[in-house]
Amino acid sequence: MTPSEIQSIKQRFGIIGNAPSLNYAIQVAAQVAPTDMTVLITGESGSGKESFSKIIHALSPRKHGQFIAINCGAIPEGTIDSELFGHEKGSFTGAQEARKGYFEVTNGGTIFLDEIGEMPLGTQARLLRVLENGEFIRVGSSKVQKTDVRVVAATNVNLLDAVREGRFREDLYYRLNTVPITVPPLRERGDDIYLLFRKFATDFSDRYRVKPINLTPDAVQELQRFRFPGNIRQLKNVAEQMSVLETDREVDARRLRNYLPADQSSRLPMLVHAAGAATDGAGNAYSERDLLYKVLFDMRRDMTDLKKLVLDLAGGGRPHEAQELLRQNSHLFSSVNVAPYEGGAAARPLRQPSPENGSNEYILHSRDLTVDDSAEYEEEAQRVEDIPHETEEETLSLEAKEKEMIIKALKKHNNKRKYAAHDLGISERTLYRKLKQYDLEQA
Ligand SMILES: Nc1ncnc2c1ncn2[C@@H]1O[C@H](COP(=O)(O)OP(=O)(O)O)[C@@H](O)[C@H]1O
Ligand SMILES: [Mg+2]
Repeated sequence: MTPSEIQSIKQRFGIIGNAPSLNYAIQVAAQVAPTDMTVLITGESGSGKESFSKIIHALSPRKHGQFIAINCGAIPEGTIDSELFGHEKGSFTGAQEARKGYFEVTNGGTIFLDEIGEMPLGTQARLLRVLENGEFIRVGSSKVQKTDVRVVAATNVNLLDAVREGRFREDLYYRLNTVPITVPPLRERGDDIYLLFRKFATDFSDRYRVKPINLTPDAVQELQRFRFPGNIRQLKNVAEQMSVLETDREVDARRLRNYLPADQSSRLPMLVHAAGAATDGAGNAYSERDLLYKVLFDMRRDMTDLKKLVLDLAGGGRPHEAQELLRQNSHLFSSVNVAPYEGGAAARPLRQPSPENGSNEYILHSRDLTVDDSAEYEEEAQRVEDIPHETEEETLSLEAKEKEMIIKALKKHNNKRKYAAHDLGISERTLYRKLKQYDLEQA
């Protein structure tokens, strides 16, 4: 494939960047497209997997057939078989009519199965069968039917880990992985980071009718050093927030840092995202306090695990490793200090926003939560002994808050779980689980 052919694919599908790893992934997609081979696209969340599925379909002889994208993580376990393979009338409560599944409807086309790692084991068995010989059976039927569908799957997790843990069928893994495409994470794309930033800054300046944000050289460096755990989706969010919030269109490294969470490996980009949602002016949007809680939920899990580990190390005669672990994760522990132990009293921001940062409140606070305050870990180390009771209390009060937030999110979105889950920064599957856990299924 010539460089200009790759270039024209990028143009057609709106893909920005020149990183060799990106070009290679595009080349593989274009080469495999005309075949009927199954493709597995692997890449971190937000790295741009979706475009690859579109390239494969559009450059294949199936291009006039249907293309359906299905997020396996978003369909409840109880209905996914019927969605994919259809069902007969009366096959389960509520099945008043027979219904065709996607594999039947898309005959002659392509199905994109996103988040394939979330597919339940039973569905995996059905999928394997349809991949092997094109056969499927509607739920509640015994009639074997045939279909001709090309499958492109995507995952943001290492499926082999899932195989090892028994959550993903090994035979299916190898069947899907006939042709692997690896979408590189943004942090490995070098100059593309700034290229993408400028593209997004221009797009948003058009949309909001403002001058585009311009980065000073030190800010460009800062941007390229950042790890971007949320990849291009996160970069886009950052560009959008800056376009809206910055009054001075010339942004230096110091100001840019307000948008880049200090702990690059944490899940805080979710908050950056949430902050955008909070300011979108939708009636009863989340308060700043809610946002703090949201971050805390994410961190709670990490923290509980971490605390156990620290205790194990300390108890196992490895105090230095325990200390080191605490130091590395001091951001998690310092965040505990703003946790709502007081039970009900409003969480108070760690630091008031300075006047010059007026409009950046949310972002500032999120940074405050992650500030790498090494003084804190010593204090925390002293408290290691108290951990068991502390964790329990904290869990209880956080759970109450979590429940409250779920109810709030559902209300805000008129009980549309999809949007509520999105707003909460969790998958729909997780939301279903939590609704069950908190006995909120009627909500
Ligand atoms: N190379 C790229 N150039 C421009 N935009 C991109 C690029 N890659 C991803 N995007 C954009 O980033 C966002 C996230 O991409 P998406 O395909 O949804 O990620 P994933 O499915 O891997 O989580 C989308 O808005 C997408 O349009
Ligand atoms: Mg996706």
